[in-house]
Amino acid sequence: MQNNFKIKKNIFEYSRKEIFNFQNHLRKVLKNGRFINSILVKQFEKNFSTIIGTKGAVSFSSASTATSALIDIICNGNLKNEIIIPVFSPVPVVQSILNYKYKVRFVDINPYNFLIEEQKILRAINKNTKVIMPVHLFGNIFNINSLKSKIYKKFKRKIFIIEDASQAHLSSYKGINAGCFGDAAIFSFYPTKNLGAFGDAGAIVSNNKKLLEKLKIYRNYGLHPSKFQLIISGNNFRMDELQAIFLIEKLKSLKKENIRRKKISKIYKQALINLPIEFQQISKNTSTNWHVFSILVNKNIRNNLVSYLNKKNIETAIYYQKPLSKIFKYKVNANISENFINAEDISKRIICLPIDPKMKISSAKSVANIIKKYFNEK
Ligand SMILES: Cc1ncc(COP(=O)(O)O)c(C=O)c1O
Repeated sequence: MQNNFKIKKNIFEYSRKEIFNFQNHLRKVLKNGRFINSILVKQFEKNFSTIIGTKGAVSFSSASTATSALIDIICNGNLKNEIIIPVFSPVPVVQSILNYKYKVRFVDINPYNFLIEEQKILRAINKNTKVIMPVHLFGNIFNINSLKSKIYKKFKRKIFIIEDASQAHLSSYKGINAGCFGDAAIFSFYPTKNLGAFGDAGAIVSNNKKLLEKLKIYRNYGLHPSKFQLIISGNNFRMDELQAIFLIEKLKSLKKENIRRKKISKIYKQALINLPIEFQQISKNTSTNWHVFSILVNKNIRNNLVSYLNKKNIETAIYYQKPLSKIFKYKVNANISENFINAEDISKRIICLPIDPKMKISSAKSVANIIKKYFNEK
């Protein structure tokens, strides 16, 4: 069962209509002559916050710069402030905090749903905890409402909760979209995300209008828009019109593409159910956007199975190869010496399979068949 064609993780193909619309928008931008943070960026911000269901959205040059701005505004220069984050997350989540010299406190994940563990968050909170930033990993949703009520009962003080929804575009819990639960939420539009731009881009959504206004000022050097005055610290974190062109257009097909990902995930689950494989457990009342479809296998065969699939022309990925505590060893302002057994274990067993919405159904079936064949040959 050899594939003649490579089954890729990401397929960048656009319909004629999409290309026509990109070109139309581009003509307008060229005529307007304002390439950064102009009419289309504002239009995208409006469209995005409407579809997510928040009062507003502020675009950024990436999710990383969005995170830095948001954390810097909340912590306001107090370098004692700690930010709790899941230890099983991508590198940029930590970089954007540590670059601003705030402290990170890693917390282990749940071994079944791969999300930061609520009980462990509650144990990790101390007097310096300013922000908790759960990641909706692979599109699965962490229950922010439950955490909020427990924090309120136990600590009776304000701790900011920021959703890292970079992987959860239109994932929902009880019909409410990721991004609507925390004090604010961060999205990435890196090209391989469910909603991807033409390069780097990101956004923050929130219902807090004051915070949204501050973020707009922060991403533009901290300059007040009308008075020529620096009013807060800031940076150049703006998004350009080219990204907005892509995002406005692709936002239109996001729902449909998420449904397609769901279809592929069903094929995988049905075909692989009787094998020695575990799946990420999707949280109760949650509709995931299937940003990533992962499987867990015995750690002794993981690398062997990955090379078997590669030889059969199937691209896979390992998200994530190591817990963040092992990657940020040289940094002092994080609790790197703790043991994070669940993240350790999963990082040795995980394989992520191709799940692009443009993937053929026959390709998904052949990925599943080749995995079955691997186990039959063993
Ligand atoms: C959960 C999460 N947070 C943050 C980021 C950073 O996003 P960006 O590349 O837009 O800075 C990513 C991207 O990989 C991500 O997956």
